[in-house]
Formats: sequence, C-alpha cells, structure tokens
Amino acid sequence: MFFCFLFFYTFAVSVLFVSVPEYTDSAAEEYLRVYNALVKLVDLTRNLIKQPTAVSDLDKLEKILQDMVNCNKSELLESKDPDGRKGLFQQWSLDLLGAVETWSETLEDGTFTTHGQFFLLVKRVLPLIINWEWGTTSNFLYQYPDPSVPPCLTSKDRFHLIDAGIMINVAYPSFLGDKRDIDLIIAPEYSAGNMFETLTLARDYAVSMKKPFPEIDNKILEERDWPKNCYVFEGKAKEPTIVYLPLFNRQNCKDEEEFKAKMEEYSTFQRPFSQEKIDFVLETAKANMKNNNETLLREINRAIHRRQNKLQG
Ligand SMILES: *[C@@H]1O[C@H](CO)[C@@H](O)[C@H](O)[C@H]1NC(C)=O
Ligand SMILES: *[C@@H]1O[C@H](CO)[C@@H](O)[C@H](O)[C@H]1NC(C)=O
Repeated sequence: MFFCFLFFYTFAVSVLFVSVPEYTDSAAEEYLRVYNALVKLVDLTRNLIKQPTAVSDLDKLEKILQDMVNCNKSELLESKDPDGRKGLFQQWSLDLLGAVETWSETLEDGTFTTHGQFFLLVKRVLPLIINWEWGTTSNFLYQYPDPSVPPCLTSKDRFHLIDAGIMINVAYPSFLGDKRDIDLIIAPEYSAGNMFETLTLARDYAVSMKKPFPEIDNKILEERDWPKNCYVFEGKAKEPTIVYLPLFNRQNCKDEEEFKAKMEEYSTFQRPFSQEKIDFVLETAKANMKNNNETLLREINRAIHRRQNKLQG
C-alpha cells in the first residue's frame, strides 16, 4: 500500500484574480501576473505587520494598485495591433512597479523601522517580478536521446518549477496521479487562512491537470468557520482517499468565536512560537489523531483492501 502524510507550509495562500476580459492574450496575462504578484506581496507583508500606521500604508498601496488595474483601458487597447498592445501592457507593468517605488519613498521614516525587510523586498523583489526567473532550472534531460523519456521532458532547455507547497500551501500535487498511485492521504490541516482552501485549491489543480481526486461536497465549505475534527473524502477507483484533520475544530473549540480566536492565536504568521505555544499545538495535534484513531484505522484498512483488489483484478 502507498500512503502519505502531508505537512502544511507556513504561508497562507490567497489567489487573486483580476480580469481584463476583452483582452486575455499573453501580454494581458503577463500584466496580471505582475499585478497579482504585487498584491500577494502586500498581503504577505500585511500579515507580518502589527503597527496600525504600517497596515494603513499597505492598504493605501493596495488601493493604488487596484485603481491602476481597474481603470478602463478598452479605448487605449482598441486602436492597437498585437505588438502595440504588448507594448502597452509592458509599460503598464512597469508603471505598477513604479507606483510601488513611489509609494515606498513617501513612507515616513520609521513606519517600517522594525520591518526594514520591506524596503529590501521592494529593492530586491521588484526587479525579479518583472523578469520572473524564479524556479528556472536547467533541464538535464534536454534532448536526451532515450525514447523512454517523454518528449515534454526533453524538448526545453530550461524548466520553470514551482514549490508545490507554496502553490497550494500543502504539497498535494506531488502525490496525485498514476506515477505515485497513492491510496490514502492523511492531511492534518494546520494552515492559517480559510479552512478547506488547501483542499479546494488541490481539487482545482487536479481538475486542470486531469489527475484523479476524490469528490468534495461543496456543502462542507459552509462549515469552514467551525469545522468538524475529521473529514473523509472517499476515493472510489483511481482517486486517493483523503482524511482531512483540522487542527482546531468542533471538538476542541466550543463555538465559532473560540475557533476564530484559536486560529488567530496560533496563526503561522508570527515568529517565533513560545515553548508553551509549541507544546499546546503538539498536544492538540496529538489529541486530534487519538480522537480519530478509529476513522484512521478504518480508512487504512479500506485502502489496503482496495489495493489488494486492484492487484488481484
Ligand atoms: C470601457 O470603455 C469602453 C469604451 O471606451 C466601453 O465600451 C466599455 O463598456 C467600458 N468597459 C467597462 C467595464 O466600463
Ligand atoms: C481508540 O482510542 C480509544 C480511546 O483512547 C480507545 O478506547 C480505543 O480502543 C481506540 N480504538 C482503536 C481501534 O484502537
């Protein structure tokens, strides 16, 4: 039997979409990518910052970026040929970065004193956002003369790789599909942010990549503010079964309010955890496993039976 344990990452994932419906060509996509990267950067920074002035500065920046993207560009684009449009979008991307720089220059001294990193981010990250060379890796299989290697792995001299955990906050992608052929995924859910978000992102990823994934009833999303301590998403044929275990839940929090407070108190967006907090989280996680021992054993047994049937069939 094949099974895996998934561990959470320390970043919450938020996916932001902006649309320029009439012009969704690659130039527009590129522009939106720059915008989304900037908004995500603002978002992550906001999560690390407590001072109200700094938060309001970040809100201002977000508004500036939003206004720039939302202003109606149809008229400008209409008159252009594809090359002209591409040029416009490139210019607008640079304008977005320029706006961040201008914003950072207007900050009063001391606003981000304890978070000088943000300046570093602006200086170092902005140029990277435009070039987008993160994760670019030389492909050692480029033109490798072996027919057993699929052409998609030999045709390009460079790959663009993304950390599956950063993408979805939990490394589901590595464990989906025929190659791994996983029967059971036990997924303790300790992410900050919306409950079930990692799961629905993984499901969307599976759909887009045509990988088997168990059915997720959207009804459970209504429980996101006070989830159960265990959910089982049964795999039927090729799909793995997923046992999903929210760290805070109906068993250890008496109501939505307590759940919200616990999620905030133990959010991963803080450094460092005190020893007491570490102990508390470990004990809570242990108790969750114990409380669901019967479900876990049952699903492990079921997965073994399914595997045996597959091997015999
Ligand atoms: C943008 O402006 C064009 C004309 O310039 C108009 O036809 C279009 O409806 C506008 N779009 C939005 C979303 O306002
Ligand atoms: C599950 O845990 C409970 C409480 O610790 C225990 O009584 C029970 O025997 C356990 N069940 C299995 C199948 O191990």
